[in-house]
Amino acid sequence: MNQDSRKNKKELIICLGSACFSRGNKNAVQIIKDYIKEHQLEDRVYFHGCHCMDKCQDGPILKFEDKVYTQVNSDRLLYVLDEIFHKYF
Ligand code: FES
Repeated sequence: MNQDSRKNKKELIICLGSACFSRGNKNAVQIIKDYIKEHQLEDRVYFHGCHCMDKCQDGPILKFEDKVYTQVNSDRLLYVLDEIFHKYF
């Protein structure tokens, strides 16, 4: 994705470090992609992965803009996404 296509988008980052990856973020990637598509947020959200955020003990980790969401396991994932996107959009 080039710089222009990120312009004016909110940044959603998923930690793909080994701890978060094995604790649920492996599956969360597709769930988040589906959520973004279902809610037609593609033009507003730049979703991508990152390396370890040094918060492994609080993982799985998601970050939206400046806010870090901890313990985003499969039970909480959709709740957290709703919280993020209802507030901003
Ligand atoms: S692997 Fe996600 S914070 Fe370390």
